[in-house]
Amino acid sequence: MGRRGLFILFEGCDRSGKTTQSTRLVEALNESGVKAKLVKFPDRSTAIGKMIDGYLTQKTQLDDHAIHLLFSANRWEAMGQMRADLESGTTLVVDRYAFSGVAFSAAKRLGLKWCKAPDVGLIAPDHVFFLDIHPDDAAKRPGYGEELYEKSQLQLEVRAKFFTIMDKSWTVIDALKDVDQIHSQIMTLTKRDLERHEEDPTPIGKLWI
Ligand code: TYD
Repeated sequence: MGRRGLFILFEGCDRSGKTTQSTRLVEALNESGVKAKLVKFPDRSTAIGKMIDGYLTQKTQLDDHAIHLLFSANRWEAMGQMRADLESGTTLVVDRYAFSGVAFSAAKRLGLKWCKAPDVGLIAPDHVFFLDIHPDDAAKRPGYGEELYEKSQLQLEVRAKFFTIMDKSWTVIDALKDVDQIHSQIMTLTKRDLERHEEDPTPIGKLWI
């Protein structure tokens, strides 16, 4: 049987370039013969995702705990497909995950332990790239400010929470660097991960246990 795929995750504050970099990584991997697929959270296409979208675009209001649980449920409903993809050898490039869930809700003053609990047991990423941007720089990027959380003070708190929950395995990247330069750094590290996985495969991990 062939090797399972890797789970590569992009995290960061709003407008940090995650979507650009995750899309480019999937394209580059596929071009180099590595089967890869893009997954984005929140997935706004599901029934739960539509509730999240209504909240983020400020059409509906929800209690902070309730929206936190919906973000988590939106990941759980994707687990079956993600596991099947990984097991069939597809590398998943994921744009936001449980760390965003914890960082944003904890920035809104919900307790860290409470925030982590619903995501315990989700599939764990193999590598996390954190695209680091100061909210003042993010605010200068096009489209910023359209959604509920795109406010500098909250983003500052979110960034601080990300730094408390990340561990040594994360790669922090200066998101102000040139787009091509960031891409080649990420591609080099991902190829290294794939080579290591080829030589010494590890099983799919679980989050926070
Ligand atoms: P996203 O669609 O990734 O927005 P963008 O493309 O602008 O980065 O995420 C929407 C917002 O949802 C973003 O502000 C982060 C927030 N979020 C949470 O609060 N909890 C979560 O679990 C996730 C995945 C995102």
